[in-house]
Amino acid sequence: MRQAGQGQSRHYRAAVCTELKQPLTIQEVAPRPIGPQEVRVDVHFCGINFADNLVCRGQYQEKPPLPFTPGMEFSGVVLEAGADVSTVKKGDRVIGVSNFHSMAEQCITDQKTLWRIPENVSLQDAAVLPVSYGTAILAVDHRARIQPGETVLVTAAAGATGLAVIDVATNVFCAKVIAAAGSDEKCKLAMQRGAQSGVNYSQGSLKDAVKKLVGSSGVNVAIDMVGGDVFLDSLRSLAWEGRIVVLGFAGGNIASVPSNLLLLKNISAMGLYWGRYQHQDFAVFSKSMSTALQYCQQGLIHPHTGAVFKLEKVNDAFLHVMQRKSTGKVLLSLK
Ligand SMILES: NC(=O)c1ccc[n+]([C@@H]2O[C@H](COP(=O)([O-])OP(=O)(O)OC[C@H]3O[C@@H](n4cnc5c(N)ncnc54)[C@H](OP(=O)(O)O)[C@@H]3O)[C@@H](O)[C@H]2O)c1
Repeated sequence: MRQAGQGQSRHYRAAVCTELKQPLTIQEVAPRPIGPQEVRVDVHFCGINFADNLVCRGQYQEKPPLPFTPGMEFSGVVLEAGADVSTVKKGDRVIGVSNFHSMAEQCITDQKTLWRIPENVSLQDAAVLPVSYGTAILAVDHRARIQPGETVLVTAAAGATGLAVIDVATNVFCAKVIAAAGSDEKCKLAMQRGAQSGVNYSQGSLKDAVKKLVGSSGVNVAIDMVGGDVFLDSLRSLAWEGRIVVLGFAGGNIASVPSNLLLLKNISAMGLYWGRYQHQDFAVFSKSMSTALQYCQQGLIHPHTGAVFKLEKVNDAFLHVMQRKSTGKVLLSLK
């Protein structure tokens, strides 16, 4: 069912990385024809993720050839669907993931990596979901298997992924969250978004502060995005049979795991690389997306946008994230 879209012939604007570690440029791009399984989307919002900066610095696991348009997730409206596309049609509101080309007014992606947005969910809220909530759902459920009433320590708690983990852990899995972040304001925000208590780890030992809150028994689960000493303090804050999930190294240091600690308290240390499920186990990946949309539709979760930047301000948006100024999700608005 080929549907010729009005957006097909129109040039569109995109943020382009022409050289690693250099500011992005905004360029006019000529659209290419879509393949039979592909869909052209009129992008409304695109997430600016911590990892986007790593990609543009050549420090991410995946290294696209230069020049490229960054951007891993978006929400928008279908402009045109390929001849063999059966899952979406022109006019549908969708979220999607793409390998580095969604910071643009148009994005072409395979039909498999698009999910329809329920009627009562806005394009802006939906744009917050893919990376942050996909990751949060797999961290909380698929990996840590958090149970109601368990205590969960979340680091970088006021960031995009941190707030998503708090939202899912408290409002869906009925856990008690201790939010750990780098300022009192960030701790306050994390508590407003559902955490029971907050620890500012720029003011002293995270381990001591957690001990004051929960006693020497420790927390059941730690979800760490910072790495280095924050990871080690999180590990040392775990209770008997505790679980720690490594999500990232925002602080820039990768700690070695003292394996004696795993043995002494029967601790499980595990990693989560959400994007990798797209290739290794698509069913798990896809379920994380549809579950996020479902939770949002049911009003169980409340995605938090911290800031919205226009496309021409994309470099300011990157700085906002990298200078630790952002809270929640930072979005690029293409409208
Ligand atoms: N494994 C996965 O599948 C997956 C998925 C999504 C994200 N991640 C990772 O999770 C981490 C957070 O991602 P996000 O999208 O939530 O990012 P974000 O919203 O930008 O949050 C990152 C936060 O990390 C903290 N941080 C600590 N030390 C830092 C430093 N030296 N420089 C910058 N930030 C520092 C900051 O919070 P404080 O000021 O409160 O310390 C900052 O706000 C990143 O490492 C990202 O790569 C992994």
